[in-house]
Amino acid sequence: MKPEELVDLKGGRVHMDAYRNPEVFAEEMRRIFHKVWIYVGHESEIPSTGDYKTSYLGQVPVIVSRDEDMGINVLVNRCAHRGTTVCQRDSGNASYFKCEYHAWVYNNKGALTGVALRRGYADSELPKDIGLQRIPKVDTYQGLIFASLNPDVESLVDYLGHARSYLDDWVRQTPSGQVDLRGGDWKLTYRGNWKLQAENSTEGYHPDFLHQAAVQVQVYNSNRRRAAAGVQGQARPQRTATLDGLGRDLGRGHNLLEVPQVQLLARRRYSQEFIDELSDSYGEDQLGNVLGPPWRLLIFPNLAIAGSNLRVINPLSVDETDVRQYFVDLPTAPDAVRAFRREQEQGFYGPSGYGGPDDVEMFERMQEGFKSGAASTLDPWVLFTRQMEDEKVLPDGQRVGGHTSEIMQRAVYRGWVRQMSEEA
Ligand code: FES
Ligand code: FE
Repeated sequence: MKPEELVDLKGGRVHMDAYRNPEVFAEEMRRIFHKVWIYVGHESEIPSTGDYKTSYLGQVPVIVSRDEDMGINVLVNRCAHRGTTVCQRDSGNASYFKCEYHAWVYNNKGALTGVALRRGYADSELPKDIGLQRIPKVDTYQGLIFASLNPDVESLVDYLGHARSYLDDWVRQTPSGQVDLRGGDWKLTYRGNWKLQAENSTEGYHPDFLHQAAVQVQVYNSNRRRAAAGVQGQARPQRTATLDGLGRDLGRGHNLLEVPQVQLLARRRYSQEFIDELSDSYGEDQLGNVLGPPWRLLIFPNLAIAGSNLRVINPLSVDETDVRQYFVDLPTAPDAVRAFRREQEQGFYGPSGYGGPDDVEMFERMQEGFKSGAASTLDPWVLFTRQMEDEKVLPDGQRVGGHTSEIMQRAVYRGWVRQMSEEA
């Protein structure tokens, strides 16, 4: 089967080989992760000269560095000599990277500046212009750093398309527009395909069921706080399905889950004074977009943003994935707001959170279920048909549907097919 035949868009189905076949995975690296814009970091992680962090373009290890001219470099983390990685840390500050094997040294723009026992090499034995290879395309949007191995990739602005206005709102959560990702990050690895995390990050169908225990704990904690503060009445769990919301297919695989009720939660922690400041900065009619903000966004293929959380999906193999998660701090927001966001992050997503692990457990169970694909007589399809008939196409090409529909997941596969088909 050709890769693009593994997705039946009209029928709302995906073949299990898309999650379990190593050849499909290799094609995904070639046609998606080496072709489009891939998120590699945020400017707040490398604010000063010499700052660096490591990341991946698919399976390609890279160093994202801030050089002496304040430029951003994305360099392949691979010594030009025999291939050893030259940087082992997640982040730090360094003007030079030294390979531990034979001590070749590179500056943070990637140039080779030192070869140990240089005199032992004849001039012809060292190729000219070697160094850490540079990723040809690097660009930023609202502080988010993207890179592409494809020298002919379309502009980042075009690639982000309809997703841009949400990223604009993301930095307008405070009048200063500051976002800081250095408040705490962690990494998890699960035994499952990378697309399981991509599908899940904006899904509105599962929370009422899978995260029931998390919701109960949240309600329990909030009732304890109310009782301690002498507040009358009890909070009750609210089901996502009973709220108003929307799902959006933003094109190119990007998609969004929008539940405005989220703002009400956030609003309670915002002082009127701060709301007035926001309103003065961006206009009262914009408050609904910038408070909260009330959505979860997937930038295909590897970036998901949801409230206090930003996650990066790094595929390791067809059935193993790394997810690196960051707390999104707003350094100039009122203390109560920052504390609320931190609470949400630690309580739901963090290593001791009671929500995030639910999803990861489902990814591993799905990958186990996909083993049934080994028998050619069994049904090989998984379904994404929910509320497919209600999907509407807007004049600007966006598609909208219900917030518990599977329009977001169909969006992922519409983007996937676009990249995986021969013409792409
Ligand atoms: Fe890096 Fe030899 S492999 S110096
Ligand atoms: Fe979930």
